[in-house]
Amino acid sequence: MAEALELAAQGRFRVEPNPTVGAIVLDARGEIVGRGWHSGFGDAHAEIEALSEAKRRARGGTLIVTLEPCAHTEKKTPPCVPAVIKAGVARVVAGCADPNPATTGRAAAAFAEAGIEYHVGVLRDRCRAALRRYERHLGADRPWVVSKWATSLDGRIADAAGASRWISNMGSRAFVAMLRGCADAIVVGRETVVRDDPSLRIVPDGATRTSPDRGGGPLRVVFDSLLRTPTTVKVVATARWVPTLFIAVRGADASRREALEASGAQVAEVAAGADGRVSVVEAFRELHRRGARRVMLEAGGALQAACMRAGVVDHVAAFVAPVVIGGAGPTPFEGDGWPIAAARRLEDVRVSPIVGDALIEGYWPLT
Ligand SMILES: NC(=O)c1ccc[n+]([C@@H]2O[C@H](COP(=O)([O-])OP(=O)(O)OC[C@H]3O[C@@H](n4cnc5c(N)ncnc54)[C@H](OP(=O)(O)O)[C@@H]3O)[C@@H](O)[C@H]2O)c1
Repeated sequence: MAEALELAAQGRFRVEPNPTVGAIVLDARGEIVGRGWHSGFGDAHAEIEALSEAKRRARGGTLIVTLEPCAHTEKKTPPCVPAVIKAGVARVVAGCADPNPATTGRAAAAFAEAGIEYHVGVLRDRCRAALRRYERHLGADRPWVVSKWATSLDGRIADAAGASRWISNMGSRAFVAMLRGCADAIVVGRETVVRDDPSLRIVPDGATRTSPDRGGGPLRVVFDSLLRTPTTVKVVATARWVPTLFIAVRGADASRREALEASGAQVAEVAAGADGRVSVVEAFRELHRRGARRVMLEAGGALQAACMRAGVVDHVAAFVAPVVIGGAGPTPFEGDGWPIAAARRLEDVRVSPIVGDALIEGYWPLT
């Protein structure tokens, strides 16, 4: 179970709001024949990965898994319990029960019926501790939000004229494309759309395209309080093929709404915040209502700051490039901040080299 927990940790920052889960399969003689972990939101679960490595050697063996195998169907992947039964293991050992009321306790009943020995509670406290973020997010009415940006070594997201292409290198941008691939939506502010005219697709930004931009990928979302984005920008021009949503405040100009909708974009209206702009809490609630569970926030410093202040950010993924911009370039957090004693420090931080850039990730503090 300790090794399964180490495997589970490899899914950290990639699977949320799902739990990080690790699994090991022993054959009937007790030899390890399969290892797996949940590695990306929407990807196969740990048990399925470990069983597919073990193949027929799982028959009569033991599945060790950090979390009770899932039995519910309200998610992207099929439930694991039937696959575990089909694999023919004789015994399942789980670290802890699933705190999700949709599935908790269901594995025990199914395994009992299938004649599989089932034991829960090995390293229970450690397995439970690894689920802290998952448990906290269960029942939330907003998606898991990954706040992503790229800065220079001196902390700028653009130069003084607002140009930001390219701060990070091609390797980092390919990594971002991969992160986008397991998100349901990508959110930006109107200013980023107007200044950068991004395509917000799952091919790396700046890559040479060999085919026209058609179809698929996460929902592209623009927070645009008064719907002032011109219809000539890429996200509108391609909205017939790539789902695109504008979120505005209630009562935004009807003719602008019609122009966006005529181009194939969708428009949602939500309540305004105290500053008259889109309320970020209401906007993320609207995205959740539309089925988004994991969202990449790729806005500039104005909207990033509004989201961090409102407490709707769960995880920060900051690319830092070895380039110095200087001057009056904006930062990823514009406006008033916190005094140093109250400054927000990320938790469970991980630093990864990405070619010549550094990716610094951590969870936003819970309190
Ligand atoms: N290096 C990077 O990672 C990176 C990433 C993105 C952008 N950028 C750069 O950042 C610059 C743009 O920065 P930005 O901060 O102006 O762009 P932004 O945060 O993407 O967009 C700001 C706009 O979003 C709209 N918005 C809607 N609701 C909001 C809310 N509750 N709070 C704040 N804004 C809200 C506002 O326009 P309305 O009031 O009209 O709705 C606001 O002007 C560009 O130079 C771009 O190149 C860099």
